[in-house]
Amino acid sequence: MKLVVCKNYDEVSAKAAEYFINLVKAKPNAVLGLATGSSPIGMYKLMIADHEQNGTSYKDVKTYNLDEYVGLDGSNNQSYHYFMNENLFKGLDIPLENTHVPSGIGNHDTLAAEYDAVLDELGGADLQILGIGSNGHIAFNEPGTSFASTTHIVDLTEETIQDNARFFDSIDDVPRESVTMGIASIMKAKKIVLIATSAHKAEAIKGMIEGPVTEDLPASILQQHPDVVVIVDTEAASLLDK
Ligand code: F6R
Repeated sequence: MKLVVCKNYDEVSAKAAEYFINLVKAKPNAVLGLATGSSPIGMYKLMIADHEQNGTSYKDVKTYNLDEYVGLDGSNNQSYHYFMNENLFKGLDIPLENTHVPSGIGNHDTLAAEYDAVLDELGGADLQILGIGSNGHIAFNEPGTSFASTTHIVDLTEETIQDNARFFDSIDDVPRESVTMGIASIMKAKKIVLIATSAHKAEAIKGMIEGPVTEDLPASILQQHPDVVVIVDTEAASLLDK
């Protein structure tokens, strides 16, 4: 794992965006693995600014996202489909049919298998962006999830529901289930950039980098991936030994 410690969120966003922009310039038909949440918003803004100012084109890029809430369709402004359209896709020249976000509606029993079929067709991402939950989750793989997991439906933990309540009018509006790529699927990415900021993430970052590889802290599996860059601010790095 390579660790990069930055001053603040803006610097983290700039570093992460650099990896994505450089890849798309070098490989215009790259497959990008994308995430939602607060962490990548700054990076997505910079990718859009670069597209507008320097003309970096995404017309041959393909993307897939990590997860979606069960029960929300793409027109719901809390859905991850909506988030991706608003925060990234509509600012780029990427054809929407090249973008893939798991469906949160449809047959509950087949949602996961349908998304696995999409992922198989795309192959692993050339570059995957990840955030991390304060409990060490990646995507919605909560502590205790098998490292062998593929796409599956999960009950969100109370901690994650509370973390995500800030995006909803009330905590009761936060969906209780999500469909998420599994840990084995995420590990197929050729390269992974994980970003985290604030003291709220410090314990998870410490466990991920310095703790044992354990299903109790899902992100710790990244120690076994051959090409991971962790980009954090000083607060998220504050509990690290060195
Ligand atoms: C989002 C996702 C989640 C977030 C994590 C951190 O697609 O998969 O694992 O990356 O919960 O969220 P933020 O960035 O909001 O702190």
